[in-house]
Amino acid sequence: MRRKLIAGNWKMHLLPAGARALVERIRAEIDPLAATLAKDREVMVAPPAILIPAVAQALAGSSILLGAQNMHYEDKGAFTGEVSPPMLLAYGVTHVILGHSERRHIFHENDELINKKVLAALHHRMTPIMCVGETQDEHDSGRALDVVLRQLQRGLENIGDDHVIRIVIAYEPVWAIGTGRTATPEQAEAIHGAIRGAILERYGRERADAVRILYGGSVNDENVDSLVSKPDIDGALVGGASLKADSFARIVKARTR
Ligand code: PGA
Repeated sequence: MRRKLIAGNWKMHLLPAGARALVERIRAEIDPLAATLAKDREVMVAPPAILIPAVAQALAGSSILLGAQNMHYEDKGAFTGEVSPPMLLAYGVTHVILGHSERRHIFHENDELINKKVLAALHHRMTPIMCVGETQDEHDSGRALDVVLRQLQRGLENIGDDHVIRIVIAYEPVWAIGTGRTATPEQAEAIHGAIRGAILERYGRERADAVRILYGGSVNDENVDSLVSKPDIDGALVGGASLKADSFARIVKARTR
């Protein structure tokens, strides 16, 4: 059985005191249920890089996992402004979101760069959450599946059989991010099924069944149940609603079947 993953992406929000307060409120809701929830799901939050030390401290003793929103693929060097995998590991970061559509479209990250980062994450035994998703234009012109499968194939370049099961894929249609417009569970499930089909073709049934595929894009406490109860939707990558402790806690407790 694949364990669901509910991942909060805080994007460029909060200051240290607010981040600590948010963690405290989330913990108050989630920690008492940790043993039950742990049976079939994991919970992660990804603060901005500079808040990682404060959030790591606030998470001490909790089962909530710590993620990063991005990283460089080199361990160190002359890369002004960047953060390396060992720096994240030093603070207990276990997961890293890579190739988020905001990284792709605002900061012009391409599939080749994202693939290098995925390989670096695997090398450092971190869990990469590799994002794929089509824009509004691509969606409207019926190219969603082509775009998503191309991003997937390029993102998985040079990733062997033993490693693919450690990758989490996040399908995030760009037109649904921060817009309040979610893909319907049926739309999302169709793309998730196709992603799993492509993994199956290349890596075989057992590995395709092990890879988790999250949905992201305007997930909230009202629509989460219908999304994550679909067989190929293994959790959610949550932006806006992850900044509100009560909404995020409710999403974490989603009904999954
Ligand atoms: P949203 O963001 O939930 O605010 O739409 C999701 C994401 O960008 O990961």
